[in-house]
Amino acid sequence: ESQGVMTVTITFDETKKYFHLQNESVSYVIALEEEKYVSHQYWGKRLNSFSQVADYPRQDNAFAPNPFEVPGRVFSLATLPQEFPGNGSGDFRESAFECLYPDQTTVSLLTYKSHEIVTGKQPLQGLPHTYETKEEPAETLLLTMEDTVTKVEVVLSYTLFRDYPVLTRSASFRNNGAEDIHLNKALSMSIDFPDADFDMIQLPGAWGRERQIVRTPLVRGIHTLDSKRGTTSHAYQPFVALADKTATEDQGAVYGFHFVYSGEFRANVEVDTYAQTRVQMGINPTHFQWHLPVGEAFQTPEVVLVYSENGLNGLSQTLHPFYQKHLIRGQHQLAERPVLINNWEGTYFDFTAEKIEAMADEASTLGIELFVLDDGWFGKRDDDYSSLGDWHVHTAKLPSGLKQLAENIKAKGMLFGLWFEPEMISEDSELFRAHPDWCIHTLGREKSLSRSQYVIDFSRKEVRDNILAQMMAILDDVPVDYIKWDYNRNMTEIGTAAPGALPGEVLHKYMLGLYEVMEALVAKYPQILFESCSGGGGRFDPGILYYMPQTWTSDNTDAVARLEIQYGTSLVMPISSMGSHVSAIPNHQTHRKASMKMRGDVAMAGNLGYELDVTTLSEAEKQEMKEQISFYKEHRKLVQYGVFHRILSPFETQNEAAWIFVSPEQDEALYFYYRVLDRANLKKKKVLFKGLDSAKYYTVSGYEGVIGGDELMNRGLYLKDALQGDFQSVCLVLKEAQSV
Ligand code: GLA
Repeated sequence: ESQGVMTVTITFDETKKYFHLQNESVSYVIALEEEKYVSHQYWGKRLNSFSQVADYPRQDNAFAPNPFEVPGRVFSLATLPQEFPGNGSGDFRESAFECLYPDQTTVSLLTYKSHEIVTGKQPLQGLPHTYETKEEPAETLLLTMEDTVTKVEVVLSYTLFRDYPVLTRSASFRNNGAEDIHLNKALSMSIDFPDADFDMIQLPGAWGRERQIVRTPLVRGIHTLDSKRGTTSHAYQPFVALADKTATEDQGAVYGFHFVYSGEFRANVEVDTYAQTRVQMGINPTHFQWHLPVGEAFQTPEVVLVYSENGLNGLSQTLHPFYQKHLIRGQHQLAERPVLINNWEGTYFDFTAEKIEAMADEASTLGIELFVLDDGWFGKRDDDYSSLGDWHVHTAKLPSGLKQLAENIKAKGMLFGLWFEPEMISEDSELFRAHPDWCIHTLGREKSLSRSQYVIDFSRKEVRDNILAQMMAILDDVPVDYIKWDYNRNMTEIGTAAPGALPGEVLHKYMLGLYEVMEALVAKYPQILFESCSGGGGRFDPGILYYMPQTWTSDNTDAVARLEIQYGTSLVMPISSMGSHVSAIPNHQTHRKASMKMRGDVAMAGNLGYELDVTTLSEAEKQEMKEQISFYKEHRKLVQYGVFHRILSPFETQNEAAWIFVSPEQDEALYFYYRVLDRANLKKKKVLFKGLDSAKYYTVSGYEGVIGGDELMNRGLYLKDALQGDFQSVCLVLKEAQSV
């Protein structure tokens, strides 16, 4: 064993027939029971070695079927923990896949065929994926299984990263048979835990209240979190975790699963008749059916599996840097993000070039670095009934053109950003009149409208090419530094007018088409910072992060609502990916009036922006904004790329939240405390810190002298400020100091 040197190894024991994937923090063990049934043995804290192989309890369980090849009654797929279970051949739990053969049967059984252990990680062609780097490498096990009757082959890919308790899994199906088949279901991964003593953690939501943390005891049954809405959607994050019942924010084992895909997904957690737990994740089979001709392959997207022995903060502290370094790409990957102003809530559709320039003038004097022109600059778009698909400037609104406006804004020393909704088409648009069949629809059926728009059919190349050409015409002409890429409805009547297309292939082909367009744009315009959006955070998933380093977290800009949304989002998403803006009061979504201080303190816990009409603010408000912005610039590296610890949960306290950003060297930290409603006769609030170095001493802004990290984390300190009234917040700056 190496000492102090990070290692990652994957070994196969030829005699005992097991694979051990291992790095400094985790082990994952797969065994070949009866030399061929691929079974799950272990996933969790690193084991130095594994010795108990083929110890799956051989016993005769009533009504548990036995494979023909294994003599006796003591071996059954109904009880065996597996890695990629088949369909209808002795396992009564949910299968990982379903093949539809030409004779209409669907029975499949996969057994071990061969394997390969390779250094590194192969890219998934056309799909977003995590990648290894020279500094932080990975190893991959390619485990090939086969249905010996139909010759369908499945290659399970397991990549273990050296520096993280992270494993990625995907599956590739190949038809080596003599006839074409269909895949009715092709999940990316399946894993069986030998028991069910867990809590299930999920991030359900809705428009305006995305990613609310819900933790419930796991009970018998099949629990499905999914999307049947075309894309990931607000309703669920493609994420599920199993936590030991005793696991907390900072302690205990948590197993997380996160899908690197932006289309319809299914996450299943099944507790079976023996209280074993199966977790599965992949493309939702509901609208999926893939034609797999002889000799061809189908590659699934991948799932990130993360094991934390340090509770939920441990899970987040793994995922944040992992996504920052192994998923997000490009020039902005690890760059400090500009403070922006977006005109949406300030003007909605009702703006002129003069108005925009006046806002930009004011914003630049306040220190804002990027002006984002939102919806309404194209076609004849004066409301949300028209023009999606017509990506040329709205000349009545911006008579001197977009280029002139962008140049004027840039002359003020700001960057210029632009809103697009490339995947949509308005019924009232030139594009729709020219190509009424270019939207997602089912032939012979009325199409449901949503926000008076249809989803444009990105499964078709000619459609993608048209939109791409329109966008490139703008981007080649106008100096655009930032794009907000929006997507504002759910899909219905999923289908296409493309001749000969299989309806069950449309959605995945749409996603592949979308990824192709995004890849073309990020490759051609590497300087552009992309921010994804879907009615706020409706498509905030790891798939999108591969192309766009940040997402508009929610259309709900209310500071109180944002406490929950950002707290929940931080469970899986790096802070550098979370757009968060200060908006006007009364808030447009909740009608609440939170102070500028509280709104700033909440928005500063992400990529700070403003979304209001700055020209209407009082001098005092502008002064406060100016101070917020310069404070944020001083600390944004710490916020965006520091180590984030959740301290007080708004979901548990209902009235408070707290978190801290700590530098990797633990020599600096930024702490925030928020209190929603006031109450009479409260005692002074004492707060505890996390993530500091217990051997170091710190100064705390507003406090005399220096205080030990151990003291701050264990004894804590009383907040100095008298918190009077509703919507209060406190921000403390901690800096390492010499002890006294
Ligand atoms: C969506 C976005 C908003 C805004 C509007 C514009 O709702 O989430 O931020 O861009 O569209 O129509």
